[in-house]
Amino acid sequence: MTRAELFELLRYFPHAAQLTFHDSDARFKVLIAGARFGKSLAAARETLLELLSGTTRGWLVGPTYALTMPEFRYIRDDLYARLHAEPAERADPPRLVAPWGGQVIALSAQQPESLLGREIDWLILCEAANLKRDAFERFLRARLSTRSGRLVVPTTPRGHNWIEQLYERGRDDEPGWESFRHATWENPNIPASEIESARRSLPQDTFAEQYGGEFTSPAGRVYREFRRELHVGKLQAPPGALVYKAIDFGYAAPFACLWGAPDADGRLLILHEHYQARQGIDQHAEVIRAVDDSFVALGCRIGPAFADPAGALERKLLADAGVRTLKADNRLRGGIEVVRRLLLPRTDGTPGLLIDAGCVNLLRELECYLWGEDVARPAPGPGDDHALDALRYLCVALARKVDWQNPGTLW
Ligand SMILES: Nc1ncnc2c1ncn2[C@@H]1O[C@H](COP(=O)(O)OP(=O)(O)OP(=O)(O)O)[C@@H](O)[C@H]1O
Ligand SMILES: [Mg+2]
Repeated sequence: MTRAELFELLRYFPHAAQLTFHDSDARFKVLIAGARFGKSLAAARETLLELLSGTTRGWLVGPTYALTMPEFRYIRDDLYARLHAEPAERADPPRLVAPWGGQVIALSAQQPESLLGREIDWLILCEAANLKRDAFERFLRARLSTRSGRLVVPTTPRGHNWIEQLYERGRDDEPGWESFRHATWENPNIPASEIESARRSLPQDTFAEQYGGEFTSPAGRVYREFRRELHVGKLQAPPGALVYKAIDFGYAAPFACLWGAPDADGRLLILHEHYQARQGIDQHAEVIRAVDDSFVALGCRIGPAFADPAGALERKLLADAGVRTLKADNRLRGGIEVVRRLLLPRTDGTPGLLIDAGCVNLLRELECYLWGEDVARPAPGPGDDHALDALRYLCVALARKVDWQNPGTLW
């Protein structure tokens, strides 16, 4: 059977961009594309012919089991519904064994030792941009050698990491390799409205990466969505508001505490800051209690406080001084993404985050915080980040309470 005959049997009509991928007879194919482009479906159907051709063994390897499941399900559904073959199914690791002996096994790179061992005939590296280069080079590449196995790498890009170099191999006429790069909107099955809604709700470079399928790297200002005329005003605590706090510890560097509350429209209002270097925890606690009291006097209630999880001792000292805190979520890239999305204008034109003009240190830090130079490892570089860390803790902690979409991105 040819691949075209198989696709006819499956009633699979690849869209034009998927066709260029299927038409290539390269042994190693790197398919970089935006979300919902049809990467998983194309990868699964690309390798189906190998599965059908005898006692072959194929692996689906992903950063987690969950990320191998789309390909796994496409293959399983084709076997049952289109090819009327009843595979034996096993769990742990998930596995399909077709009646003729062809096998598919799903493996997670979280347990690299499970990637050692057998020779394989084909390998799909599912969402490989979230895999470590090591998992492929040390554990997987050699599995394909003896049987001249095939490799398909369907993934959305993630910055300028090792996947971009893998992609370049297929652009540089390296024998056996071919690479493809496409945008989500090349899949005619995805409604344009879905793409437009993503374009509006994502920071520009995130959209270019996640939907445009581009290798991007953050550069310039970290919070480039921030504009004083849009985000800063004279704010007041909404009547009866629940006021939260977030704290970043410091002694030589400033200690920063922010007070924030969601308003009735689901925006997060940053109402007050305390920003002070070279003071003991007791003095900070005194200021914090006094500010809390002033919010209570306005009819507000005081909600939880979130503090840097690395500051175990400082959290204990603060608690002894009457200010209890919860451990904040300190994942940097994901947290920055949450803040940037809150800064974007919503459908009514107002952003999801507003800051009181009195928070002068927070406002200064927002404008001066820059990405570092290293494109391979994007990290914020120069600029103070004390109030910004507290802002990140608060935005992440309250993300579910304010009008905010879950970021699909894995950082
Ligand atoms: N050729 C096609 N014909 C019909 N529907 C298609 C085709 N290709 C993809 N689709 C549909 O588009 C959607 C996305 O496909 P798929 O899950 O393969 O995309 P993906 O790029 O792997 O997405 P994700 O980024 O979520 O992993 C699915 O609903 C799938 O059925
Ligand atoms: Mg997929």
